[in-house]
Order: sequence, then C-alpha cells, then structure tokens
Amino acid sequence: MTKPRLYSGMQPSADSLHAGNYVGALVQWRKMQEEYDAFFSVVDLHAISVPQDPAELRQKTRRTAAQYIAAGIEPERSTLYVQSHVPAHTQLSWVLNTITGFGEASRMTQFKDKSSRYGSDGTNVGLFTYPILMAADILLYQTQVVPVGDDQRQHVELTRNLAERFNSRFGEVFTIPEAKIPADSARIYDLQNPESKMSKSGDSPQGILWLLDEPKVLQKKIMRAITDNDGVVAFDRDAKPGVSNLMALYGAVTGSTMQQITDEFAGHGYGDFKKAVAGAVVAEFEPVRERALELLDDPAELDRLLAVNAERANEVANETLATVYEKVGFLASAR
Ligand code: TYM
Repeated sequence: MTKPRLYSGMQPSADSLHAGNYVGALVQWRKMQEEYDAFFSVVDLHAISVPQDPAELRQKTRRTAAQYIAAGIEPERSTLYVQSHVPAHTQLSWVLNTITGFGEASRMTQFKDKSSRYGSDGTNVGLFTYPILMAADILLYQTQVVPVGDDQRQHVELTRNLAERFNSRFGEVFTIPEAKIPADSARIYDLQNPESKMSKSGDSPQGILWLLDEPKVLQKKIMRAITDNDGVVAFDRDAKPGVSNLMALYGAVTGSTMQQITDEFAGHGYGDFKKAVAGAVVAEFEPVRERALELLDDPAELDRLLAVNAERANEVANETLATVYEKVGFLASAR
C-alpha cells in the first residue's frame, strides 16, 4: 500500500533553528515520517525574499539540513532536499501566480506584517508572492498533509484555494492538502516578550532558544524568562502568557498535558518549574546539537545526501509539472 504524502519545509534564514521551529514543526515531522511518504525541504528560494549574504546562505542551508537529520529526520526514509535543487518549484509558482488574485495575495497577514516593518521601498515583490511559491512546493508533490506551526495556517488555506481553482478550471490535477497544526505548541513565544512569537528574525537575543545553543545558555535564558507575580503554574494564555509559554514548551518536550504540568508543580514556585523546564529542554536539545555539529564536520557527505534526495524530489515534481503544462495548454517540446 502506498503511504499518504506529507510535505513541509523551513527557511535557512538563521544559523540555528529555534525552539518554535523545533516543537511547532520538527517534532511532528519526526513522528509522522513513519506513516507518511514525507518530503522535507530547506526553502532557500523563500529565504532570499529578505536580503541574505551569499556565503552565509550556503552555510545556513547546510546547517538547516544538518539539524533536520540530527533531530531525527532520516534521509534514507524521507526525501530531505534543498528547494533550489528542484527547478519545478519556480516553474509551477509562475503558473500559480497567474491564477492568484492580487487582492487575495494582499490579504496574507505575514506579508502585511513584513511589508509594514520594511516599508514599501524595502519590500520586494518576492515577499508578496512568497505564499504562491509555498503553494507550488506543496502541490508539486500531491501532498495530503502539511505539518506546520500556527503561523502558516493562512498560507496552507491559500494553497487549498489555488488547488481547487486550478482543478476546476483545467481539470483534476492537484490533491487538496490539509494543514496539521499541533494543539498546545503551535505557537511558541519569545521568552522576554511572551506576546510576540519566537522568530528567527526576532530582536531579543535573550528571548530566543536556539537549538544549537550550549546547555548553559539555554538554562540562563529559561531561568530569566518573563513570568508574572502570582506564583501558580497554570495555563492561561491571556492572563499568564509567560508561564503558559514555558508550559507549552515543557509539554512539547516531555509529552505532558497542561493539566499534568499544573499538577506536577502544584505548591512549587516558578524557580522549581523553570529548573525543570531548563532540564527538559537541555536534555532534548543537547543530543541534537552534538549530532548536528558532527554532521557539519563532513559537508561533502551532507551535500551528497542532499543531491541523492533531490533526484527523487525532481522525479516526483517533474511529473506533476508536466501534467500542469499540458493542462494549461503549453505546446510540448518536440525533444
Ligand atoms: P519558517 O522557516 O518560518 O518556520 C518553519 C516552521 O516552524 C514553525 N514555526 C513555529 N512554530 C511554533 N512557534 C513558533 N514561534 C514558530 N516559528 C516558526 C512554522 O510554522 C513552520 O512550520 N513558509 C514556511 C516555510 C515553507 C513551507 C513550505 C512550509 C515554505 N514552503 C511548504 C510547509 C510547506 C516558513 O517560513 O517557515
């Protein structure tokens, strides 16, 4: 029996992934790769929608791939590849551009946030069409399930709309994908500013837990996380954003529910709770960090793995692209 298809990706826009990427996405990926025919990309084409230093981008791409593998993505089982190694992504994205409404694309909240941050002169058109490239990523592989954090929900919704529109205009080509978003850890917030999401581009160095941080650094950041004054470990996103965020993180790495965590720390202060969170996060991240650094010691082997996996990705993607080209009426090349 063929396994259902799964697709997801991350931008190589920092030297390390952060705790949000890890618990919002990577933990689910690792679990799901057993039941699904999974494709995981390092989306370097998306990353250049904000300026990147070329040499650093290459490094960050390898580092991101190494962290996928170190966190348990198996490159022999799942197809782990670099987006720019598969030209069909940009080819399909052009076709999808032509069926996307300008107003529809303008409603994407991530674009609205980013463009208001950079201003209209600092915002490039790639940032505007970013979700359409993401739709191409997903649709090329006839994906059923897209495991992502909560911030990508709207992009997956757009993907579904584009797939349905294409199918009704040109005939059934695309599978309609569904987002899979974890319940409590869908959004991890900045430890110093628990109202804004933990982000690679965030500007609070003490508020972001990097997967590749040393244990001491992780501990320090967690012990200094912003909480509140009532001293009770209880989950309430509105009234207790800092404590709830630490609970979500702790729950994601230990498998405990929010209620179990509340019971576990009943009668304890935040000091004890934070120590437990730090211990659990370090125990989870440290082996990943060590393995990622080991993998990065042999970049040639990493590049070889990525090349082998890109071949498989190209095969699947080109098949979908050929059908799309035929459906929209492009003359087949005679050779
Ligand atoms: P990116 O690189 O911003 O984030 C990668 C994954 O991490 C999740 N995430 C979070 N989860 C919880 N809390 C947070 N603070 C947090 N920050 C990030 C994201 O939801 C995501 O799952 N557009 C995508 C990359 C992409 C993609 C795709 C994803 C491109 N093509 C196709 C799925 C399918 C992005 O920017 O992710």
